[in-house]
Amino acid sequence: MTEKYYKIGVIGGDGTGPEVVQEGIKVVEAAAAKTGFKVEWIEYDLGGERYMRTGEILPDSVLDELKTLDSIYLGAIGHPEVKPGILEKGLLLKLRFELDQYINLRPVKLYPNVETPLKDKGPEDIDYIVVRENSGDLYTGVGGVTMKGTPNEVAIQSSVYTRCQVDRCLRYAFEVTRRRNKKMTLALCGKTNVLTYVYDLWERAFHEMGEKEYPDVKREYYHVDATCMWMVKNPEWFDVIVTGNMFGDIITDLGAITQGGMGIAAGGNINPEGVSMFEPIGGSAPKYTGKNVINPMAAIAAGAMMLDTVGESEASQMIEAALVQALSSGRIQNLGAGRMGMSTTEVGDFIAEKV
Ligand code: IPM
Ligand code: MN
Repeated sequence: MTEKYYKIGVIGGDGTGPEVVQEGIKVVEAAAAKTGFKVEWIEYDLGGERYMRTGEILPDSVLDELKTLDSIYLGAIGHPEVKPGILEKGLLLKLRFELDQYINLRPVKLYPNVETPLKDKGPEDIDYIVVRENSGDLYTGVGGVTMKGTPNEVAIQSSVYTRCQVDRCLRYAFEVTRRRNKKMTLALCGKTNVLTYVYDLWERAFHEMGEKEYPDVKREYYHVDATCMWMVKNPEWFDVIVTGNMFGDIITDLGAITQGGMGIAAGGNINPEGVSMFEPIGGSAPKYTGKNVINPMAAIAAGAMMLDTVGESEASQMIEAALVQALSSGRIQNLGAGRMGMSTTEVGDFIAEKV
């Protein structure tokens, strides 16, 4: 039998991105050795440093190459000396759009021994998944500005959704709910009382698909403002939440802080039929760059998601279990940078060892 083999692109990116991705690779390699597959890691020099050096953000040749890979592992994008918006739009969002990664999968899961700001809530209460649509909404850049700088300046930025975009996202969310097989409940998060075009489309599509194709999945609806409230007060109500791109961006930061913050929150930009990209949700943390103090767990969790998506679910579960064990051991004191009681590389070694 020939061994399975994956080509994975590595974009360490800016700040602490390369450091955390290095630990993720270490842990994935440990799981690969255990379960019997090989990974060829292909490094790409992209991010703020390259932009400052050469003015290039994402050359077409690189984009074409990325399209041929099995997956992409991303550290962080964001450089203190580059104006906000340039790298985000030119690199991160461009990759999501060009590779048509139309799902942003963001589990909100409180691991054992991790502190949450939610009073009296524990790991059994905080365990759900947000399926954030990742290709439409306010992110399409539809809009414009006129009479800029005058008192009459007009600025328009529109939320854009097609039925097909909504349907493919809903289908993915229903499938995730089924596969998870926990509460079998999918909640649509919208704003049908104000965004009466866009979320009306979502709501109709949601119920039509659910009724016809997923009668076994319970359907709930929450306005986005109420969703925020319940994510804090009763997170145990949720199983899977599906929502548009903009609301998804906002509620997943709220979700991340309830699971212990950016040190642990991972996400996947997924094209179920193409090339996906996995990342820790936290930023480039320039203040901690090169100090070996940043928490690599979010990157490691993203690595586990990546393996699940390429089809190595056993290896993925192994990493998940190792994360849980590592945290349960009590050796990692805190998830915050510089407060873990261990260095970045030590945490990576510790988790790789558990694998
Ligand atoms: C995220 C980030 C990005 C987004 C930014 C950096 C463009 O906040 O991945 O959630 O808004 O999607
Ligand atoms: Mn965000």
